Amino acid sequence: MTITEEYPFERIPAPLIDWYRKNKRQLPWRENPTPYRVWVSEIMLQQTRVEAAKEYYLRFVGCLPDVKALAGCEEEKLLKLWEGLGYYSRVRNMQRTAKILCGQWGGRFPEEEKALRALPGIGEYTAGAILSIAFGQPVPAVDGNVFRVMSRLTENPTDISEPRYKSYLKEKLSAVYPPAGQRCSDFTQALMELGALVCKPLSPACGQCPLFSLCRAAEHGTQARFPVLPEKKEKKWERVFVFVIETPAGIAVRRRKAGVLKGMCEFPSVPVLEETPEEILKGWGMSAFTVEKSKKYVHIFTHIRWDMTCFHVRAETAPFPVYPLGEIESSVSLPTAFRQCLGILSASPSGSSRHG
Ligand code: ADE
Ligand code: SF4
Repeated sequence: MTITEEYPFERIPAPLIDWYRKNKRQLPWRENPTPYRVWVSEIMLQQTRVEAAKEYYLRFVGCLPDVKALAGCEEEKLLKLWEGLGYYSRVRNMQRTAKILCGQWGGRFPEEEKALRALPGIGEYTAGAILSIAFGQPVPAVDGNVFRVMSRLTENPTDISEPRYKSYLKEKLSAVYPPAGQRCSDFTQALMELGALVCKPLSPACGQCPLFSLCRAAEHGTQARFPVLPEKKEKKWERVFVFVIETPAGIAVRRRKAGVLKGMCEFPSVPVLEETPEEILKGWGMSAFTVEKSKKYVHIFTHIRWDMTCFHVRAETAPFPVYPLGEIESSVSLPTAFRQCLGILSASPSGSSRHG
């Protein structure tokens, strides 16, 4: 990383913070940025766009306004509050952390990086965000936005997935942060905000950028070459059968024992192997049933894609617990991958086969 060694990092904060103060968005987590509120927002924003996160965020902190409320929340209610955001292990980790904070830290967050990072689900990024945004400490939080802005400013050719690049950036940024208690929060958020509003992935608005005169990519017209991203691995496809088994008493729901979404509710599903849908249903002990129709769905997770074939099955009884449709819609916490399968109940018929 030699060519970036002489980059004048110290010239970034002043114009950037000034720009941020004039141009920042009003976002719910920017009001009253307590450690708890900052933490919740940063965990949500790790996988969810700002616009989509707002509503979830307000509902979440509305129901669970502090660490103590989160620690004491019933699991089903918690998962329901998180429904649609995906990656449910994140909210489970949040509750574990809340319990640790209540048990060992008097319900407060430690103000120290090492102690924060020892908590479940809190990594380098989240710790930096809490420390700088909530506690006003000069600790960077390097996310995708920050990588993009910094890579372009400095024309750094290092692949952003290389761990040494993140520590390098963290070190360079730490050295130019405002002193503790003075606008550290603004500087962290300004870097993110510039990436989100101006230095966008595909169309950076360099003409409106407060760092234009400090930007090597803008100088050379090389914005599109930075940041250098890792080569994309093709996501693996996994074929699954999903059964929406409808009985007079309701629809069958069970808990997943393995694989992605382990521990979450599902409509009974199996990986597609040799067995036909009918054989699978018989294997569950069902005899009299009608397969009304089938419909294809796709769901994309981090590392795999599901090619789902969903079957609407009618039967008098089901081999799993059943819930009325209204209850499934309102209070069963069902991941989006499965929730979309409810669409089959209103889809047009695609042929049916009878058994038993
Ligand atoms: N993305 C991640 N953290 C953010 C924050 N605090 N504000 C806006 N966008 C963000
Ligand atoms: Fe990004 Fe353009 Fe600003 Fe450089 S000048 S930081 S490329 S928006």
